Amino acid sequence: MSTDPADPPRLARTGRLVPEGLDEAMVRAVVETFYARARADDVIGPVFNSKIAPDAWPAHLDTITDFWASMLLGAARYGGRPMPKHLAMPELTDAHFSRWLKLFAETVLELCPPGAAALFIDRAERIGNNFRMGLALRRGETDPQLTYLRALDS
Ligand code: HEM
Repeated sequence: MSTDPADPPRLARTGRLVPEGLDEAMVRAVVETFYARARADDVIGPVFNSKIAPDAWPAHLDTITDFWASMLLGAARYGGRPMPKHLAMPELTDAHFSRWLKLFAETVLELCPPGAAALFIDRAERIGNNFRMGLALRRGETDPQLTYLRALDS
């Protein structure tokens, strides 16, 4: 957390302190860098490229930026429901979620100070694991062995 009196810690509308350096511009940079990598990735690229047409990407990046800015900064701009969009992709497996989370963690660790990176990673893991759980329930799986997937091996 910043101790610079000219840059005091901020309280987001989420009620939490905003980690040092985290602002709209950083969210935007993370989203643009992550999806450029995701689209080129061997494992998750084909899913994105089959669902999102090239000319639909600018709007998609705006939606995802709104999503993260709402989640982390309390921007209150995202009013979508991401779960049904992922439930509509029954082809998603743990291999996709693992790769998504790993690529995302690598990106935020590269672009953000440690506190901001840790917050992004924690939220992505929680959301990703919710999607996995939703997909498993939708498939009628009741496997009690479904364990929490982490972005990085620890
Ligand atoms: C693991 C954490 C993940 C998070 C936090 C996440 C987040 C999101 C969000 C917020 C949206 C926007 C929904 C909307 O339009 O309102 C979205 C859409 C989408 N996600 Fe994910 N996602 C995750 C995992 C994945 C994975 C593993 C894949 C595939 C490899 C994937 C593929 C997609 C696609 C193709 C869309 C667009 C769906 C559509 O508009 O029909 N996501 N995701």
